[in-house]
Amino acid sequence: MVDLELGASHHLDMEINETDGTVVRAREFNSEIIAVEPVMGDAVLITLAIPDPMATEVRAGHFVDVLCRVEGSYDPLLRRPYSFFRVDPRAGTATLLVRPFGRGSAWLASRRAGTILDILGPLGNTYTISLRSRNLLMVAGGVGAAPLVMLTDQAVAKGLNVTYLMGAADAAGLLAPSYLPSAVEYVVATDDGSKGHTGFVTDLVAHFVPWADQIFACGPEPMYRSLRSAVNPHRLAGKPRVQVSMERGMACGLGACLGCVVETRHGMQTSCVEGPVYDMDELVWS
Ligand SMILES: Cc1cc2nc3c(=O)[nH]c(=O)nc-3n(C[C@H](O)[C@H](O)[C@H](O)COP(=O)(O)OP(=O)(O)OC[C@H]3O[C@@H](n4cnc5c(N)ncnc54)[C@H](O)[C@@H]3O)c2cc1C
Ligand code: FES
Repeated sequence: MVDLELGASHHLDMEINETDGTVVRAREFNSEIIAVEPVMGDAVLITLAIPDPMATEVRAGHFVDVLCRVEGSYDPLLRRPYSFFRVDPRAGTATLLVRPFGRGSAWLASRRAGTILDILGPLGNTYTISLRSRNLLMVAGGVGAAPLVMLTDQAVAKGLNVTYLMGAADAAGLLAPSYLPSAVEYVVATDDGSKGHTGFVTDLVAHFVPWADQIFACGPEPMYRSLRSAVNPHRLAGKPRVQVSMERGMACGLGACLGCVVETRHGMQTSCVEGPVYDMDELVWS
């Protein structure tokens, strides 16, 4: 259910009933950057003040749509989507991991503390941990590490076992182990062999499939194609289930522009509203 209303203190309110019944209030709001720190390669972590009670409502997989330009400018026109890397309900802050690719992300990654950002969110659905799951396998490609760090935090807080696989072009592009809870098994792969396994992160997956109750992935679409090839021969009766977060341009984040449509077994869906997280088997892979 999506219900739009105009508010006095912000431009827009939207209530989304998640599949688990949680109501999340998405808004357009101004947010001050509290801190910016380097994290991996040329990517930075941007910590923002967020309105009450958003930090307690946000779950792994939710994202925000950020205006990546100064006030008064229209370039670039469209918002850019970023997953939550971490939230701190006590401090009322959220952290985004931003890697500069093009104009929007380069602008965002070069902001300093004190900058005010125009943000729409939280948006989208979330990863779902089954009540029966004990062993969780995370598969992260590059900046896809972001929502899986938050999911790992949630899982470890529940006493679940997590193995976190991460792949990057080289060692500099990997997340330092200190960003993950110490209980997590962290295994890495690099394209150039400068750290861990030489090759793709998906090369590591088959070994963990019999152990995992669920697999959660975030990365570019070619990584998901390799993931399917790595997982499917080792699954029994479709288990373990695999959830992936789809990366599309998300200009409106509200299901209006149709720029983020994905094909599912139930028809075409706007991945900003009905996603970005999907069961891998629900998507049509052409
Ligand atoms: C739900 C969701 C969550 C996301 N979360 C994050 C996140 O946590 N951290 C993060 O850094 N990014 C994240 N992204 C990707 C991020 O939104 C894009 O990198 C950003 O929109 C690019 O905008 P731009 O203006 O910089 O690039 P554009 O001007 O749109 O593109 C410039 C060039 O960069 C290339 N490019 C753009 N994006 C990517 C990409 N992701 N990978 C490789 N090449 C790219 C384009 O092909 C183009 O050649 C997420 C995307 C989605 C859909
Ligand atoms: S981003 Fe506009 S419909 Fe999804």
